[in-house]
Amino acid sequence: MTFNINKQQILKRMKKIAVIGSGTMGNGIAHTFAQSGFQVSLIDISEKALEKAVATIEKNLDRQLKKERITQEIKDATLSNIATHTFLSEGVKGAELVVEAATENLDLKLKIFQELDSACDENTILASNTSSISITKIASVTNRADKVIGMHFMNPVPVMKLVEIIRGYTTSDEVTNTIMKMSKILGKSPVEVNDYPGFVANRILMPMINEAIISLHEGVAGVTEIDTVMKLGMAHPMGPLQLADFIGLDVCLSIMNVLYDGFGNSKYAPCPLLVNMVTAGKLGVKSGEGFYSWSHGTKELIVAEGFSK
Ligand SMILES: NC(=O)c1ccc[n+]([C@@H]2O[C@H](COP(=O)([O-])OP(=O)(O)OC[C@H]3O[C@@H](n4cnc5c(N)ncnc54)[C@H](O)[C@@H]3O)[C@@H](O)[C@H]2O)c1
Repeated sequence: MTFNINKQQILKRMKKIAVIGSGTMGNGIAHTFAQSGFQVSLIDISEKALEKAVATIEKNLDRQLKKERITQEIKDATLSNIATHTFLSEGVKGAELVVEAATENLDLKLKIFQELDSACDENTILASNTSSISITKIASVTNRADKVIGMHFMNPVPVMKLVEIIRGYTTSDEVTNTIMKMSKILGKSPVEVNDYPGFVANRILMPMINEAIISLHEGVAGVTEIDTVMKLGMAHPMGPLQLADFIGLDVCLSIMNVLYDGFGNSKYAPCPLLVNMVTAGKLGVKSGEGFYSWSHGTKELIVAEGFSK
């Protein structure tokens, strides 16, 4: 059955959006909804994370203003559309849509969704920005499995066009349709996919990154050579090893494990070098070193000492 919900109906029905988690993704999601005119309630357990998120949003709005992509009025209106909360039940009050972007941890997400299910109005749609956790599993701990959906934004959210919309096994047509349209209202290009490990984005991206690490591990080529082949040969804006450093090697490992466990296929086994680097705390940009050294910032590419010839 097709549900023809139009933009006006969505704008009439949805005015307040709650975003759970104010880290890298949460602040970008809050920024994007607020700039599109929605009242946003940004929720985090950490007061410090909330302060940092608002400062980041302000900095990003200033950058847009400087490039003349927005006006001072839009900047002011965007900021005034955002309220912050440390208590979930208080923050989600009156929200018609909740987008969860808390830390990627299964038990944590299940706990948050159980709490959301009891705190939110029965018609509220509950979306998760998870990179890899099953939407069907998250939906199963709620009493509204038809209203739980994946809304996988890309980083940085205000810039990246794609939203991967993950339809859980029980997500309704109506909810899928509403979230597809809502993504368009935000100026994004949504793509609907079904709920299988890694969805589409990470099912394809992560094995490529893992294969690049295997190539390095086996001595096929060095860090610069592998990244150069993919940049110049495949027109990728950055090589897979640099991208892994940006994403975080711990995140890459955890997604490979989701693929490996989910499919039970050895082709998804994480490279032992990736496992070793994560165990050693070499996580990429966030720890200052991965395949490259980032202690001097992210502008210049310097191969990490252990990988330089
Ligand atoms: N970073 C990326 O590039 C990226 C891209 C797409 C999707 N994702 C997904 O987005 C989600 C968030 O990732 P991130 O990179 O923004 O993480 P992050 O670590 O930057 O931020 C997570 C935030 O969640 C908060 N948090 C933890 N428990 C909470 C709770 N119970 N209630 C409210 N807030 C809580 C933390 O305090 C933190 O501020 C994850 O599911 C991740 O897989 C990340």
